[in-house]
Amino acid sequence: MKIAIDGPAAAGKTTLARSLARELGYLFVPTGAMYRAAALAKKRGLPPEQARIEVREGGRILLEGEDVTDLLASPDLDELSSQVAVDSAVRRHLVALQRQIAAGRQVVMEGRDIGTVVLPDAELKLFLWAEPEERARRRVAERGGDFQEHLAAIRRRDERDSTREDSPLRPAPDAVILDTTALSPEEVLAQAVRLVEERRAQLAG
Ligand code: DC
Repeated sequence: MKIAIDGPAAAGKTTLARSLARELGYLFVPTGAMYRAAALAKKRGLPPEQARIEVREGGRILLEGEDVTDLLASPDLDELSSQVAVDSAVRRHLVALQRQIAAGRQVVMEGRDIGTVVLPDAELKLFLWAEPEERARRRVAERGGDFQEHLAAIRRRDERDSTREDSPLRPAPDAVILDTTALSPEEVLAQAVRLVEERRAQLAG
């Protein structure tokens, strides 16, 4: 089965996708990290639409053969990745890679356009939502820093990611929307596991 998890910045997609993939023994594919690696390529003067990006076990990301995973969660790449993600040539390059990775595999893939564009046939689609203030609080807990600055950055990315012309952030018509504002990561995982079991039963029956 293929599982698509989409949603806005800092909604907990990566946390859920990683733990769900571990629980199910599926491959975890963080496509946000792929856009961040493309942004890092651009910062290094390489064309992001040609960047050689690989996803390894546990969602580790290689750029031109170098493991760059630990460089990707920074405020400048938050912003720059959202900017390069508007570029259709970058999207074509990464969507092709993402489809190749998923072909013939059981995957949990997270991003913005997985259920709508990358894997429209995914058997389960989740759209993770949380209020922007709650997402900013989670960022402060994760990375430290100023609440208002995180909130402003999240709002700016939400706006850009959902209004761009190519593959804007929106729930697929058949996505299950999970509002995680008042839920712990463990509660979100438990709900997702329950939805996987329901879907498996449907597919079997
Ligand atoms: O999920 P994230 O914050 O790591 O994603 C970084 C940026 O990449 C996000 O602002 C928009 C873009 N992105 C995208 O356009 N499509 C995806 N499938 C994943 C991420």
